Amino acid sequence: MAHKMAARHFLTLNDLSGDELEHLLDHASGLRQSWQRGETRDTLKNRVLAMIFEKSSTRTRVSFEAGMAQLGGSALFLSSRDTQLGRGEPIEDSAIVISSMVDAVMIRTFAHKTVETFAAASSKPVINALTDDFHPCQLLADMQTWREHRGSIRGATVTWIGDGNNMCNSYINAASQFGFNLRIACPEGYEPPSELTERHKTLVEIVRDPVEAAKGANLLVTDVWASMGQEDEQNARIKAFRNYQINPSLMQVADRDALFMHCLPAHRGEEVSEDMLEHPASVVWQEAENRLHAQKALLEFLITGQLD
Ligand code: CP
Ligand code: NVA
Repeated sequence: MAHKMAARHFLTLNDLSGDELEHLLDHASGLRQSWQRGETRDTLKNRVLAMIFEKSSTRTRVSFEAGMAQLGGSALFLSSRDTQLGRGEPIEDSAIVISSMVDAVMIRTFAHKTVETFAAASSKPVINALTDDFHPCQLLADMQTWREHRGSIRGATVTWIGDGNNMCNSYINAASQFGFNLRIACPEGYEPPSELTERHKTLVEIVRDPVEAAKGANLLVTDVWASMGQEDEQNARIKAFRNYQINPSLMQVADRDALFMHCLPAHRGEEVSEDMLEHPASVVWQEAENRLHAQKALLEFLITGQLD
């Protein structure tokens, strides 16, 4: 296509090499420290990020929009309700036009195919800000948070408790990119796609019993039982996932230095007990803040091609 130039995209964690990911996370922690010292930065001066949201968001929207502003650029919030995308303009046409006017495009949508189709027609970097299948930006923040507390995650054991959803799928990719072992505790019928677990079977294991799965683990992670788009299944899911809650007694069987993460929003009393977010092992608030720093590093990398 005449409009198209090679652009790096971030649709899954596999779009960056292991080295690039490590470098990006080092940079993200540096940006966090510099931000905390009150230093200003304008590496993305005059640059514009288009943000297409077809699902709700708090963290993703605030972190991308604030992140662009803090780097000297700006961000446009585009909801599918108000753009021609929501009225059926082809994704490819939208991609050609939007990418001709901005420096990068962030998309949160349902089908993963939508971000792939958009990226294939886009002349600028496209970032997956959550699809039904993957949430790679959250994994950048989670991995940054782990490193800031514990250093390298290589060889550690991570236990996922709950639904084999978009977050779980991104943890599988992370297991392979960062070299950790992943135990997934989920009820029957709620596993991640078998082709994904099969591809990474040396690192990923399905363990039905949450207590068995949590034993000796270094990191316990969970997410809501019903994701956006699954609201109709809420009641069936509450029944199926009843025993898949992270609470202080489950933390007891994990390693004594284990951490607890949750991408948020959390449903207290469902996938986490009332007291879990404030548990001494919980790093959820730093994890949420790190969305800002990790994505600033990602934006600099994709837009300028540099990380320093
Ligand atoms: N964790 C996360 O992506 O949060 P939001 O849905 O609020 O963006
Ligand atoms: N699995 C959740 C994550 C929200 C950040 C969802 O897709 O709704």
